[in-house]
Amino acid sequence: MNTDNYIKRILDELESLAENDLDPKSGRLFSHIYSHGIGELDELAREAYLRYMDKTMLDFTVYPSILKMEMDLVKFANQIFNNENGVGNYTYGGTESIMLAMKACREYYRDKYGKSFIPKAVLPATAHPAFYKAALYLGYKVKVATKLGDGYTAEADVINEMLDRDTVFIAGSAPSYPYGNMDDIKGMSDLAQDNNIWLHVDACIGGFVLPFIERLGYRVDPFDFRLEGVTSLSADLHKYGYAPKGASLILYRDPEYRIGQIYVCSRWPGYPLVNTTVLSSRSAGPLAASWAIVRYLGMDGYTRLTSRIISAKRKIIKGLEELGLDIIGEPVSSIVAFTTWDYRVFQLCDEMKKRGWYIQAQPGSRKLGFPPSIHLTIAPVHDDIAEEFIEALGIVMDELEAEELDIENIVSAIGITDDTKPSDLKDKLGLIIELLGIDKESISGEMRLINTLMHEIKPEIVEYFLVNIVNRLFT
Ligand SMILES: Cc1ncc(COP(=O)(O)O)c(C=O)c1O
Repeated sequence: MNTDNYIKRILDELESLAENDLDPKSGRLFSHIYSHGIGELDELAREAYLRYMDKTMLDFTVYPSILKMEMDLVKFANQIFNNENGVGNYTYGGTESIMLAMKACREYYRDKYGKSFIPKAVLPATAHPAFYKAALYLGYKVKVATKLGDGYTAEADVINEMLDRDTVFIAGSAPSYPYGNMDDIKGMSDLAQDNNIWLHVDACIGGFVLPFIERLGYRVDPFDFRLEGVTSLSADLHKYGYAPKGASLILYRDPEYRIGQIYVCSRWPGYPLVNTTVLSSRSAGPLAASWAIVRYLGMDGYTRLTSRIISAKRKIIKGLEELGLDIIGEPVSSIVAFTTWDYRVFQLCDEMKKRGWYIQAQPGSRKLGFPPSIHLTIAPVHDDIAEEFIEALGIVMDELEAEELDIENIVSAIGITDDTKPSDLKDKLGLIIELLGIDKESISGEMRLINTLMHEIKPEIVEYFLVNIVNRLFT
């Protein structure tokens, strides 16, 4: 067999598999990708990744370089988040960092209240689903603060009213993913101190932007370890740290809070298992790439990239306002969300996608009081493309003929009312999925109907559908 040909055939196959994928490096995506636009930095990160791809993070006695790189990254983060005496670890993503913080918190309070203590968390309604997921895995009870302030910001007073004897964990976003708003972290920090409970700051998306916005001389409400009540903080390197996916940091104010995060097991015949994270074996590629990127950029590099984000954000906000679109809340960092307050937003997303632009539909929820909206994650590359983007959006809006979706009829045709329970839908599920035309091809196509339905139908029913659709798609 000619191996060269064989390899080429496999690579060609990969290429054709990606035919319908959007190009993450095009600068035309406003979610999922955080492009800095520096060619040589991309090359450096790839090289670092490849050099460490075959090494596992499982065993730092075999690869001491891994421990060193991890601690260098934590040191950098501790510096930018003013965590002078703190500790931290590298994880494979924001969800993992949040899960570890909640695990550490659970063990911390079980140490005080006994092994059978069931911890309770109070979360703002805009908190990332990673918290609910972690709560489910870890056996927390969750209460959601649905009452939000201006711009859907979580307020400490509301959280305060919801605390009870078993509440040990509260969280705030800096900023939240959907709208880019900053929660009242200062108020939450006071609450945490007064009640002796754990405050986690979710800076997964804002962590590597906010400190540099501040460094550029703009006012940023305090959100880091300068606030005495902050116990832990997550910040994702694979977002505005510009690292490839599989890179986040979890930080703690004091080593005593981290103890419950660490998992060890020596009750088996094999090597003593020592894990600082949820995952065990994993490639050190993303770690090495993160290390190289932080080393290349340093404080000044991140600050320069952040000034490009601010410049792009200004142009985009101005353009959106001129198009008559409503900006939601106060976009203090690098996230901008907007709405037209009707379902045209979903048409906008579909039409932009046909033209190679990805703007992210947020179905919101009529039941929960969240509007249909569009999310933009703004990256440094968007500074060069902002005008083109606004022009494309303007053209699409001009051409858009508001399509009247008879949503009430569709909802009643599939037999869903306010009283419908997921179990009522069991027998009809296949039929409804077919009726809505959801299959492997359609999920990367027009989503306006699905998004509109997700807005209209109760979240429990939407979740039931999603689980079952996924169960069918991944076959
Ligand atoms: C604020 C916030 N928290 C947590 C997460 C979860 O991060 P990951 O997708 O890396 O698990 C995200 C992801 O977008 C986020 O924006």
